Amino acid sequence: MTANLPNWMNRPRCDLTPAWRQLDTCYQQSGRAFDLRQAFTEDAARFEFFSQTAPHVFADLSKNRIDAATQQILLQLARECRVEAHRDAMFAGEAINTTEGRAVLHTLLRAPRGISGEAGADPLASERAEVHATLDAMLDLAEVLRADPAITDVVNIGIGGSDLGPQMAVLALDAFANSGKSLHFVSNVDGHELAACLKRLQPRSTVFLIASKTFTTIETMTNALSAKRWFEANGGAAADIARHFIGLTTNVAAARAFGITTTLGFWDWVGGRYSVWSAIGLPLAIAIGAEGFREFLAGAHAMDAHFRSAPLKSNLPVHLGLLDVWYRNFLGFTSRCIAPYHSALRRFPAYLQQLEMESNGKRVDLAGQALTHGTSPVLWGEPGTNGQHAYFQMLHQGTDIVPVEFIAVAKARHDLPGHHPMLLANALAQAQALMQGSADAGGHRDFPGNRPSTFLLLDDLTPASLGALIALQEHRVFVSGSLWGINSFDQWGVELGKVLAKDIEPRLASGDAGSLDASTAGLLRRIRAIS
Ligand code: F6P
Repeated sequence: MTANLPNWMNRPRCDLTPAWRQLDTCYQQSGRAFDLRQAFTEDAARFEFFSQTAPHVFADLSKNRIDAATQQILLQLARECRVEAHRDAMFAGEAINTTEGRAVLHTLLRAPRGISGEAGADPLASERAEVHATLDAMLDLAEVLRADPAITDVVNIGIGGSDLGPQMAVLALDAFANSGKSLHFVSNVDGHELAACLKRLQPRSTVFLIASKTFTTIETMTNALSAKRWFEANGGAAADIARHFIGLTTNVAAARAFGITTTLGFWDWVGGRYSVWSAIGLPLAIAIGAEGFREFLAGAHAMDAHFRSAPLKSNLPVHLGLLDVWYRNFLGFTSRCIAPYHSALRRFPAYLQQLEMESNGKRVDLAGQALTHGTSPVLWGEPGTNGQHAYFQMLHQGTDIVPVEFIAVAKARHDLPGHHPMLLANALAQAQALMQGSADAGGHRDFPGNRPSTFLLLDDLTPASLGALIALQEHRVFVSGSLWGINSFDQWGVELGKVLAKDIEPRLASGDAGSLDASTAGLLRRIRAIS
């Protein structure tokens, strides 16, 4: 630790704390040989002890390989690493994204008007006023589009955070969609995607949302330009661009230069992967309406309030983040499987991949020093029950242990008899099978069991509960990143590939393989010979 740094920066890295050494001892003495079945036999109250309730989300953590003593030391680790001071600095708008010198204020996007959470003057008053002015404008625009019978299709062109969040949320809340519009999402620079989408559209009945925080991302700019050319080539007058192209961006000047006059802005203190709450959420607002979008924000805000005020021992994002560290750094689990038992959450694993892996896929600490401990796990998954007929074999009998995060919803929003109990029974049964295993049949039919899982249960999948579920995941990523001592809010690792692609692209036309490595040069020659 260094003198003269603000309290939130002056935090020890997890591996340099006394708690870390204690966790190591804990792992050697009890963690390595921990048996879930025995733990349940010995403690009748294990489910109650390891369950947590947060707004809209109930979490059963009892099927995880952890005991009460380890949990105590993990909470001590959070205290020694001053996670709470770091969290408070984020909410207060300190520039905790240190490598970019930016605040991290996605929580402000869902804070109600006029609530600062602090007594006295509101230091974020001007940001708060801008957030609400833009939110009002965005929701007004959403309602105008929803009410316009001439518009039948809305195409969101964006990638990464400008695609994954709104696409995931629109699918998740399909039961609440009442606009009558078809929403499309085009992200990939692969022209097959845009071409397939445009084939089904008419310029006069289509609105394009050009979603890009920076308005420089090559995929989005390429797709936006092609959409504009298609619009003009198919009878859309240049004068109609204003009505049919809307920019969602922090770079309003670049959107104007592109020819877009209707823009909704946001701010550099909203990270791309945290931007679904901003103007980037317009597709969701169009799908479910202004009131639904406000409920989505309110659900997230309720989780923010929980994260901000619940004591560590009953703070769900804190528990999830601590468990992630325990698994990654002590039990050596390198991946986490996300298994939503709800088909509307089918893009949730993809959304979480960016949230976790772009945030915490880092190898140096805040001072740029290489870490000796692991960081982000690999996240992957598909909805259940489909996953059971694909990758669950490996989860049950493979050589690697992968903690599974089940997400289930108690209430169904359809009335087909029998389906929902069957779906939920399967979620419960898979978690049970992973834990219990079975040695009855012997040999190839043996299940080793003792495989950990977390079970997140929502009463219902609504705008509010989805908002809370997403915010829960954002904050658990914050907690593990904070403990690991990394900057969870930059993404320098995406830059090199972008630079190299710019160098290679003209070579595909010219055939110039000079200075390329032999593999890239060989592949370039082969592509040129075929295409
Ligand atoms: O390349 C990664 C990234 O910068 C993500 O962080 C971001 O969500 C995505 O690209 C899209 O960026 P933009 O919204 O600026 O187009």
